[in-house]
Amino acid sequence: MDNLWILNIFYLVRAKINNKMRDSEIIKEKLDIVDIIGEYVPLKKTGHNYKALSPFRTEKTPSLVVSPDRQIFRDFGGDKGGDIFTFIMEIENISFQEALEHLAEKAGVKLTKKAPTTKEDKEKDTIYAVNHLTQQFYNFILSKHTAGKKALRYITEERRLPQPLINTFGIGYAPNSTALTKYLTGKKGFSINDLEKAGVVTRYGNRTVDFFRHRIIFPIHDLRGNIVAFSGRALDNNAQPKYINTRETIVYKKSQSLYGLYQAKDDIRKEKKVIVVEGELDVLSPRKEGVKNIVAAKGTALTEDHIRILKRYAEKIVFCFDQDPAGTDAQRRALEIIEKHGLSSSVITLEGGKDPDELVNTNPHVFKKSIKNEINIYDFIIDSAVIEFNPSTADGKRKILAKVLPMLAPLENEVVKEHYLKKLATQLDTTLSSIVKETEKRTSSPKRVEKAQSKKETIEEYLTSLIVQAQNSKKAASISKSIHPHITHQNPGINKLIDILEEKDGKADEIAKNLPKELIPIFDDAYLRPIPEFSTQIELEKEIIKTTHLAKRNSAKKRLEEIAKELKDEKDEKRQEMLAKEYTKLSEVLK
Ligand code: CTP
Ligand code: MN
Repeated sequence: MDNLWILNIFYLVRAKINNKMRDSEIIKEKLDIVDIIGEYVPLKKTGHNYKALSPFRTEKTPSLVVSPDRQIFRDFGGDKGGDIFTFIMEIENISFQEALEHLAEKAGVKLTKKAPTTKEDKEKDTIYAVNHLTQQFYNFILSKHTAGKKALRYITEERRLPQPLINTFGIGYAPNSTALTKYLTGKKGFSINDLEKAGVVTRYGNRTVDFFRHRIIFPIHDLRGNIVAFSGRALDNNAQPKYINTRETIVYKKSQSLYGLYQAKDDIRKEKKVIVVEGELDVLSPRKEGVKNIVAAKGTALTEDHIRILKRYAEKIVFCFDQDPAGTDAQRRALEIIEKHGLSSSVITLEGGKDPDELVNTNPHVFKKSIKNEINIYDFIIDSAVIEFNPSTADGKRKILAKVLPMLAPLENEVVKEHYLKKLATQLDTTLSSIVKETEKRTSSPKRVEKAQSKKETIEEYLTSLIVQAQNSKKAASISKSIHPHITHQNPGINKLIDILEEKDGKADEIAKNLPKELIPIFDDAYLRPIPEFSTQIELEKEIIKTTHLAKRNSAKKRLEEIAKELKDEKDEKRQEMLAKEYTKLSEVLK
């Protein structure tokens, strides 16, 4: 009886695993990894693969390779690689189950098994569900309910937001009551614990109340459109605090979230440029003037995570922040990170120190003109420092230099650098040479730009790639083997792979389908590894010959070292003789 029960469980589990395998396979058939990864980084075709700058690291030469034939990717400067699921898990920082659901939706595949697997996935789903219903509830109160009348008047008349924008962004009103708790725990059957996890209620001793009361509600989405948090603005300008936000939860990390990005990402990608503003209304109002590539950092400085996310969509980050010292300092800090990621940046300053929302509503024409007037970030850094400190006193000069030089010193283009140093010298009424001296003091300190930690490829790996990527890999393998029958001692898999290639006719990726399992990673690595472009197959074959000779010398050298060591301790004369013979033979190779 017991055994039967266990057997049943076994079948159940196996059926579930099989279901999941089938789902992911169906999804893989419907989607192309080139499209999926192409949504995150611009891919360039090179040979049979595509290449891009790695979205996972900071780098200046592309080392992310995507193979349409194999439907896999590999980051040769780092340690990441895999299929569409691995890619989405890595880039979105989500679990396999979440990646499965995300890609299923893209592929239009209905998952046979929907329930989340891990406890954390389940908890996240509950929070998304609570937040989704909360958003609908607040939106209903604002648009339809008498309790929301005053709020509707405030948002549409005082803040001049049109109804379509209210709907696109799912804006709502939280009434001054505990109506939300009642709605979610009553009709919708959630527990207080669920609501607490989502952060929509707050606890007072043993009582809980709705967290947002008498506030305009702005839902905050993640990149897949889930609602992860809310921000609530008081209707009264003098209320303290004016804004409150959902605390951080397992689905909401402030340092990774940007208000409006979900709605703006396509426009940002089109423009290749993102405007970063301070608040929700600064994202919303410019849309009335057709400016849609905007996100808000919500009153905080841009973090490295923010910039890494924006890098997927934009090549340029345009700051449109309040121009107070705190705001400019935040921009300077962000600039360092932006530079590090190879993005460019600029600044927009608005007339009269107004924020975008105010300017759009008082003078839309001037707004549209101002946002076209981007100031180069270095001009901005110099100008703002000169405004902040007095350039005619020694102390002021010292402070200006302290702010500005760390930003100018790393500039790589000497002409551009001198341009700004000259400008600075003029502003400080000093000579270019003393500014240059000050700059040199700073450049000698260790640089902050981190270099990509590329793993060095071995000759053997390179040679294997040449053979695998040759048009006729059978011929390539036999050329190489005729010179050097065993490419490597370190990795016997490589030798096995070359042996198989030499035997089989056909395209390499066809051959790969029937390879022993343990050779597939070696094949994939060789198939994706970037190699130079050869104008003809003859050129490639020449490179194979040259590289095989190098590999042969390499292994001869290594073997010689081994023999020398062995000979020292070897007592047996016969063996000594054998080793000596081998030594002489190998020495010939090295000549
Ligand atoms: N903010 C916040 N929490 C606060 C204060 C501000 O999250 N306690 C965020 C909000 O996203 C807000 C942005 O920082 O939109 C800018 O704040 P503030 O300068 O106070 O905005 P105002 O322009 O004064 O606000 P509004 O336009 O709504 O009048
Ligand atoms: Mn404002």
